[in-house]
Amino acid sequence: MPARGRLIALEGIDGCGKTTQARALAGVLGAMLTHEPGATALGAQLRRLLLDPDASAPSSRAEALLMAADRAEHVALVVEPALAAGAWVVTDRYSASTIAYQGYGHGLDPPALAGLVRWAAGGLQADLSVLVDVEVEVAAARLAAAGGHGADRMERLGPAFATRVREGFLTQAAADPEHWLVVDGGTEVGVLTAHIVASVRERLGDAPAGGR
Ligand code: TYD
Repeated sequence: MPARGRLIALEGIDGCGKTTQARALAGVLGAMLTHEPGATALGAQLRRLLLDPDASAPSSRAEALLMAADRAEHVALVVEPALAAGAWVVTDRYSASTIAYQGYGHGLDPPALAGLVRWAAGGLQADLSVLVDVEVEVAAARLAAAGGHGADRMERLGPAFATRVREGFLTQAAADPEHWLVVDGGTEVGVLTAHIVASVRERLGDAPAGGR
């Protein structure tokens, strides 16, 4: 039986650069790369319902439950089997995103949401969450520059919403420093990857040789 794998979550506001860093980190560690919402067949449908810019916004509690449903499916079908097989898993967003967006962003009670997401994930928590933190203005400029593909519904909620979400991430990280690493998303991409890789190795040790 291989040793159980480790779960690393990349978190942050839209436009912070976490997707680039998640990809790079998974590559260096030889880890499985996955994401939320939308990494399963059910999740892909939920993602469309949740983020289509033309869809009307669900009520906040319904939105939280749909995000939780996506996570339940993701954990059951993708994340938990990989960890059990000894793989390390890097996920682009995890439970902290629900608390930051639906809690701090949309005003649902963060402790109540924490209970919901813990239940949805079957108690599975990230071994380490990496917050790629940037100023809201920097993230907004990056999203505008990336432009073309069109912003999703969440990205259109504007700077006041993004500011609350950022606060939500920073608050979660400050409350549990043992399980969080906060990095400056304004750092040059390659330099930031090297810093994240070194910090992950320091906190969690080396991924098994040959990756998954
Ligand atoms: P993401 O895939 O990171 O965006 P992109 O495709 O632009 O890289 O995330 C999609 C959106 O879903 C993002 O705005 C954050 C939001 N989200 C929540 O509101 N709650 C959640 O629990 C999760 C996982 C994501």
